[in-house]
Amino acid sequence: MASFLVKSATLLSLSFTLYFSRTQALSWSADHALWNLNQNETATGPLEYWGEWPAHPRTPSPANWRVPFYMLTLDRYVDGQPSNNDANGTVFENDWTTNQFRFGGDAKGLMNNLDWIQDLGIKAIYFSGSPFINQPWASDGFGPLDFTLLDAHHGTIIEWRELIEELHSRGMYAVRKPEVQMQCASLRV
Ligand SMILES: *[C@@H]1O[C@H](CO)[C@@H](O)[C@H](O)[C@H]1NC(C)=O
Ligand SMILES: *[C@@H]1O[C@H](CO)[C@@H](O)[C@H](O)[C@H]1NC(C)=O
Repeated sequence: MASFLVKSATLLSLSFTLYFSRTQALSWSADHALWNLNQNETATGPLEYWGEWPAHPRTPSPANWRVPFYMLTLDRYVDGQPSNNDANGTVFENDWTTNQFRFGGDAKGLMNNLDWIQDLGIKAIYFSGSPFINQPWASDGFGPLDFTLLDAHHGTIIEWRELIEELHSRGMYAVRKPEVQMQCASLRV
């Protein structure tokens, strides 16, 4: 029994060692400043990453989440900032005439259309897919490649903050999930 426990513990620690030795995230770079959630310029690894939204008051959750939700895939919504559609500058990226590449929807497009959504009686937006960087053509946000960098096709940190503040000022909420479980699938590519 004791040797079984020792073997299990050794196997577990070996798995963790292998896993963490492979864990990577982009380090800070001035090129990514508009999308990088990590603001620690000198950090050498993810454990030293750090970031904040200065002077942003916390918005408490509603007492009851049984409110009308609107679920959307941001890329398929409204293109409010055409300049970010080809953020990677590749040929396999933005083409609104097909359903295989990006359409161009972004945080700004959603923000410009909140009147319409609010008039439906909606209280919370549920974003399908993650906000994190994806392959150039991957519009759905289901293959995040790095949890410290926003997808440039969807807008900058500033545009996301404007959207969140606008939602809150209307008494609305934003609900996101990171799609952590999808990362392995995306890394196989
Ligand atoms: C930023 O990274 C440095 C390592 O260069 C570390 O010493 C420091 O604690 C980090 N700052 C924060 C706020 O985590
Ligand atoms: C796409 O652009 C981002 C942001 O500059 C960059 O980190 C990423 O490596 C690019 N991806 C490809 C496949 O070019």
